[in-house]
Amino acid sequence: MRAFAGDEAPELTRLVARNLCHLMPWMPWAAEPPTLEANEGYVRRTMEEWNASIGFAYWMREDESGEMVGCAGLHARPGPGALEVGYWVSRDRVRRGYATASARALTTVALGIPSISRVEIHCDEANVASASVPKRLGYRLDRIEDERADAPGETGRTMIWVVGTETWVTSTSSGPTP
Ligand SMILES: CC(C)(COP(=O)(O)OP(=O)(O)OC[C@H]1O[C@@H](n2cnc3c(N)ncnc32)[C@H](O)[C@@H]1OP(=O)(O)O)[C@@H](O)C(=O)NCCC(=O)NCCS
Repeated sequence: MRAFAGDEAPELTRLVARNLCHLMPWMPWAAEPPTLEANEGYVRRTMEEWNASIGFAYWMREDESGEMVGCAGLHARPGPGALEVGYWVSRDRVRRGYATASARALTTVALGIPSISRVEIHCDEANVASASVPKRLGYRLDRIEDERADAPGETGRTMIWVVGTETWVTSTSSGPTP
């Protein structure tokens, strides 16, 4: 996983364009075909957020091919003491454990920050593939909240999966591997 350095917008734009139908059901930002300009802005914002410690976005580089195959990140959305993990993986690279490996690494990093005691993964109830990631990692389903559905595949019922520092020690030593 690599932090954005500033020159990734062209590759990111090509990747999102190839994956639009795969992402559109679940990611509100995938409603329109991506533009280079919009992704340049996105990359710039992720770097600003990183500097301001309010978000830590990464792109996934596949060792074997050297290609960008998805993105994952930590976001400060849940408020003090918690971070949220998000992820997406290119359709031609799903079911290789990439989302699970990314979420595992990000959870370990987040819970290693002294001020963070909880990590969350939010996903729509209908997004079976996404929900299986926290499930496999030993997160527990804390609650389901009714929200506005922002993407066409969503029901609006958001599952909030949670793991805390104590549980994570156990789940990383004996939990499932991708
Ligand atoms: C959800 C997503 C990130 C999963 O990525 P991934 O790299 O395939 O996930 P993993 O390989 O780590 O898969 C973990 C498990 O998820 C489940 N899973 C993955 N894709 C699935 C699918 N299409 N249907 C049912 N289960 C699925 C499987 O149990 C899988 O394990 P298995 O392959 O050993 O059976 C990917 O499908 C994606 O990018 N979807 C579109 C964007 C999105 O929904 N992002 C999350 C928003 S909350």
